[in-house]
Amino acid sequence: MATESNIPPELVTALRQARHVAVLTGAGVSAESGIPTFRDAQTGLWARYDPEDLATPEAFQRNPRLVWEWYAWRRQLVSGAAPNPGHLALARLERLVPRFTLITQNVDGLHHRAGSSAPIELHGNIMRVRCSAEGTVYEHWDEGAELPPPCPACGAPLRPDVVWFGEQLPSDALEQAWNAATRCDLFLSVGTSGLVEPAASLPRLAHARGATLVVINLDVSDTVRERLFSLHGRSGVLLPALVSAAFPDAAA
Ligand code: APR
Repeated sequence: MATESNIPPELVTALRQARHVAVLTGAGVSAESGIPTFRDAQTGLWARYDPEDLATPEAFQRNPRLVWEWYAWRRQLVSGAAPNPGHLALARLERLVPRFTLITQNVDGLHHRAGSSAPIELHGNIMRVRCSAEGTVYEHWDEGAELPPPCPACGAPLRPDVVWFGEQLPSDALEQAWNAATRCDLFLSVGTSGLVEPAASLPRLAHARGATLVVINLDVSDTVRERLFSLHGRSGVLLPALVSAAFPDAAA
């Protein structure tokens, strides 16, 4: 297990010297804020559903109310959660390196709340909804008797402004992520299982283009190879440790 005290010194040097750091985060980064990861078993009311059966256009067509209520529950979880030390360390890192790109698969908006200035949200954000017919995005809506609520403009059901399984990612977000992975000199992949494309390809692309790749996950073993550092551990511990080791003079 990697700890605060055994972050590889070569990694500390690589981070200190990096000109452009790109970071990809997944559900693991928000786990320590109390938000269950996508592939964790669900609990309580939702235990009998598989998220992969709720986060699809087909599920919404079949049972829009069920899907709406699942997102309403997740929204409530997110509203009651706070950014954890992992989110905060990334917001700090942004201010310490010459160039920084944060790419997230999370839809909880916690990076933004932690102070990251412009996270690229590949999978959208559950705090917004959009019209399922014409796509207009809304940040405020009425949770009235009819669920999902109807679009104020055209009456079609509103849906969460997220990317469901089988849907295309927003092309501008994907292009920015691709550019960052191609151009960065250090890429951090944190708390993601790497099972869902195209996000899963970004770390490989960065590494193939010559960047140092750092993986932080509870699911990997500690490994150091040429330009590849896998660190086994919690992002809420290892991210602050890594940032403090590379920039000891910066205030936490
Ligand atoms: N610190 C570091 N890693 C962690 C932590 C933690 N505290 N807790 C869990 N992890 C790791 C797990 O080991 C796992 O590899 O985070 C990963 C979470 O994986 P997933 O639940 O598959 O989440 P993610 O990779 O973000 O999923 C990608 O798939 O389901 C879709 O759209 C959804 O955005 C999601 C995407």
